Amino acid sequence: AGRERRTSDVVVIGAGPAGLMAARTAKAQGLSVTVLEARRRVGGRTWNGLVEGADGKDHFIEIGGQWISPDQTRLISLVEELGLPTFSRFRDGRNVYVDPRGERHVYDGLDFPVAEKTDREMDRLIAKIDELTAEIDAAAPWEHPRAAELDTISFRHWLEQESDDPEAIDNVSIYIASGMLTKPSHTFSMLQALLMAASAGSFRNLVDEDFILDKRVEGGMQSVSLTMAAELGDDVVLGQPVRTLRWAEPDPSTADEKNGVAADVRNGVAHDGAAGDVVALTDDYEVHARYAVLAVPPNLYSRISFEPPMPREQQIAHQHISMGLVIKVHAVYETPFWREEGLSGTCFGGGRLVQEIYDNTNRGENLAGGAPGEEDPHGTLVGFVSDVYAEQMWALPEEERKAAILGAMAEYLGPRTLEPIAFFLSDMAAEEWTRGAYATSYDLGGLSRWGHLQNRPTGPIHYACSDIAAEGYQHVDGAIRMGEAAALAIAEREATDAGQPTG
Ligand code: FDA
Repeated sequence: AGRERRTSDVVVIGAGPAGLMAARTAKAQGLSVTVLEARRRVGGRTWNGLVEGADGKDHFIEIGGQWISPDQTRLISLVEELGLPTFSRFRDGRNVYVDPRGERHVYDGLDFPVAEKTDREMDRLIAKIDELTAEIDAAAPWEHPRAAELDTISFRHWLEQESDDPEAIDNVSIYIASGMLTKPSHTFSMLQALLMAASAGSFRNLVDEDFILDKRVEGGMQSVSLTMAAELGDDVVLGQPVRTLRWAEPDPSTADEKNGVAADVRNGVAHDGAAGDVVALTDDYEVHARYAVLAVPPNLYSRISFEPPMPREQQIAHQHISMGLVIKVHAVYETPFWREEGLSGTCFGGGRLVQEIYDNTNRGENLAGGAPGEEDPHGTLVGFVSDVYAEQMWALPEEERKAAILGAMAEYLGPRTLEPIAFFLSDMAAEEWTRGAYATSYDLGGLSRWGHLQNRPTGPIHYACSDIAAEGYQHVDGAIRMGEAAALAIAEREATDAGQPTG
């Protein structure tokens, strides 16, 4: 049986927010599109789920990305345009901090209740990071005059050079290491940390949970992708991983006979090649197009066979980009009991098994029996177990893992935390078409060496993903921006090509 043949101007690989936005934008520009998605659902790392509770009911959870911050203006305007209501994270009441000695402190406001010396030290470190952040162009951090130097030192090492207060270091570190890149702070560079801060406007913004975790979409963030996919209709094909992407016919006149590849391609000439015939092959389809948008996270590029191979610089660069690892913990309770005690549900503890907890009670239609604008009477907590702790937890048998995580959450919110009616751990690292969470970043030294390549089209292939974004880096907003930018760049090339005589 042959493959079903489809033809369109643009083939988009991946129906996450980046790919769907690319398709939507390309269509609005008058281009026809086919979106090929590996999974049997759209949304990628955004995913609405239901978990069955001890009460026999299904409870709504957001397995993947969910929060929107005020600087994420492209996502905010898209959400409005799609007619999706948003709501604020519950944040009334006092927060809880657990210090390195395991002592619990209840506090108001943003500043952790630490010793005055540590507090001053945290402020000093944050101010110093923000001075550097202000010098970084999130769209081109590799252009900073000291980029190479800042890329040789790990974030941890930089903090340790600056300070001898371990509590201050742990607390400042969590905003980027366990809290964002979800890698240990010794495995990525200061430059990578500065990109994260610059992409959100400043390091201060990352510290401010009311800013960075501001709004949610009623009915879940996956609704953004579901709504775009519904508009695209049959243009989106599910359950079809792209296995092969043919992106340029090797020119026989320049073929290197000994190695069987076109010399042009080896020498990177095809890199600047014009739009051509692109063929994306899945198990059941072959899609012929003039352009491709590769809208998958960079750690998955090498799952596709490129014919001819990608230029050598891309092949090398892609090996230095990897996913972080984090477990998103969902615990649903009969009621949001912490609110009765005057607590917001917001909890922090740098260096602890569960380092962050928030009230994640749902609102909207997706709930069992829920209505638009209405809050779920059940209380939901979300917590995060990052990097090395996530590895430790996955190594445990299921019941021990659950007990360890709930025990760590109870250090903040007390014994009632131990008895949720529903419990679920997001496991994106086990998903073949993601392989980690939240997103990808470069290893030490990689950003300054290869970052400049990540958004440069390879012949007819354009790249789009939150993980190569400037604003909204590693976030849905960045995915939307990159999808839109890729489609607009293609439309512009089309217009230029159309204006030129052929032959
Ligand atoms: P994404 O990974 O979403 O989509 C890529 C798509 O490509 C997937 O559907 C995949 O199946 C498909 N694919 C891969 N290989 C393929 C192939 N060969 N052929 C065809 N299809 C292929 N962000 C945020 O803004 N706020 C938040 O609160 C969070 N929190 C958060 C929590 C967790 C647990 C995770 C995992 C992630 C977040 N994020 C987040 C990050 C956010 O979810 C992420 O940045 C975006 O989903 C990225 O969108 P993309 O479209 O770039 O990639």
